[in-house]
Amino acid sequence: KGYITEVENFQGKTTEEIETFRIKFLGKKGLLNEFFAEFKNVPNDQKKEFGQTINQLKNSAQAKVDELKEWLENQTEEKGIYGDLSRPGEAIEIGSRHPISIVKNQIIEIFSNIGFNVSEGPEIEDDWHNFTALNLPEYHPARDMQDTFFIQTNPEDILLRTHTSSVQVRYMEDNKPPIRTISPGRVFRNEAISSRSHCIFHQVEGLYIDKDVSFADLKQTLLYFTKQLFGKSKIRLRPSYFPFTEPSAEVDIYWGLETETDYRITKGTGWLEIMGCGMVDPNVLKNCNIDPNEYSGFAFGMGIERIAMLLYQIGDIRMFYENDVRFLKQFKSVL
Ligand code: PHE
Repeated sequence: KGYITEVENFQGKTTEEIETFRIKFLGKKGLLNEFFAEFKNVPNDQKKEFGQTINQLKNSAQAKVDELKEWLENQTEEKGIYGDLSRPGEAIEIGSRHPISIVKNQIIEIFSNIGFNVSEGPEIEDDWHNFTALNLPEYHPARDMQDTFFIQTNPEDILLRTHTSSVQVRYMEDNKPPIRTISPGRVFRNEAISSRSHCIFHQVEGLYIDKDVSFADLKQTLLYFTKQLFGKSKIRLRPSYFPFTEPSAEVDIYWGLETETDYRITKGTGWLEIMGCGMVDPNVLKNCNIDPNEYSGFAFGMGIERIAMLLYQIGDIRMFYENDVRFLKQFKSVL
């Protein structure tokens, strides 16, 4: 029984010490084998107790050896730097930017080259900044165009912004013209999720306000932008309606009909809608304390997902939010 205490108190710190200990107890000619050999000479009435004791000794000796070996291994791992200095390093895999960030950064770059700065605002908005200031008074039917997620309806409406036009309102409230700003950000709409639309997506909206800003300035800015981003500069403007711009237009880019994909995504027309735009409605300027008799401006807005899908031929918008590394990995080269 004294041996059991010896085993329990043993504190070997080197491979040699532990090995010596192991041989003493568990080796071929070790104490335990000796005891087991002795077993047959033990009187019958003591056999049970003797057997139990040597089994206990064996188990704790084995446990001790295992424990010390593991401890020793951990020690060496931690001190790994002092180990084999010629061992080759392990390559660390570099991550990649998300395609939404890549495209967002490209758009920011293109507009900052012609003097636009970047403005941001809250994702949780009040009714004024998302709707009313943008010429969408209460009960205006166009509010239904944007399926809004409401957070609170009493005493005032608090909601998830449905577009980043809300940021433009905030920017106009806080800054005097000339204003040249783009507002990238996440927006929310209560829409059914499918391969083409999602309830969360990203936009970049632009705003330019100064003296004598005309529709020609808008068109030239759009031409510059499409040429820079897509390398294509054939566009057309289709009359459209937005409450905050007048006149309003939808911008189509001529994508071509060279490949089967071109055919499919443009539904055989060659044209693709890429954004909405227009001249800022005088009511919006007034709401933001800008005198419409002195200033005019244009605004535009586009969905980043839609543009990323076109640029990278991504067929399903849901891929942007699944974070499947097999998808994300493919954007490594375009940091
Ligand atoms: N805010 C509009 C939308 O989310 C886009 C837009 C912005 C249209 C500016 C015209 C001018 O659909």
